[in-house]
Amino acid sequence: MTPTILLLNGPNLNLLGTRQPEIYGHQTLADIEQACRRHGQTLGLAIDFRQSNHEGELVDWIQQARGRAAGIIINPAAYSHTSVAVLDALLAVELPVVEVHLSNIHQREEYRRHSYVSQAAVGVICGFGSHGYILALDAIRRLAAPPTLPPDSEEA
Ligand code: DQA
Repeated sequence: MTPTILLLNGPNLNLLGTRQPEIYGHQTLADIEQACRRHGQTLGLAIDFRQSNHEGELVDWIQQARGRAAGIIINPAAYSHTSVAVLDALLAVELPVVEVHLSNIHQREEYRRHSYVSQAAVGVICGFGSHGYILALDAIRRLAAPPTLPPDSEEA
């Protein structure tokens, strides 16, 4: 069975393409979704791609992923910096989590440099624009459905 990755996008990411393109790039969320689906196919992953401007909806979706998804990729957007609820939901579902940001949050305002969500993430990818989503898929592929290697072989 093809493993499913829940790919969540937080508030204002529906505006990508027109929202501060000098920071977030010119690609729309639909462009990113299409690229993720295409890359997912090459990796043997199904992508459940969603966006919400509402914290509670993101929490509901994370909770529902338990037993259904093989891993979660999340760009929590502004909730990264504020939401203990999103963090708690991610900790509760016990799935591998990769956090993504389009921009390099460590190069920006002080309040963006801390992410609550990072505490639940295996790793964080930031600063590579929309390519970060592709990198996150490569990372979660190994975490969610590790390649089956003979016992003695080195990982590629
Ligand atoms: C973001 C960074 C956040 O600080 C910001 O609130 C966003 C997008 C990013 O992808 O770079 O909405 O998560």
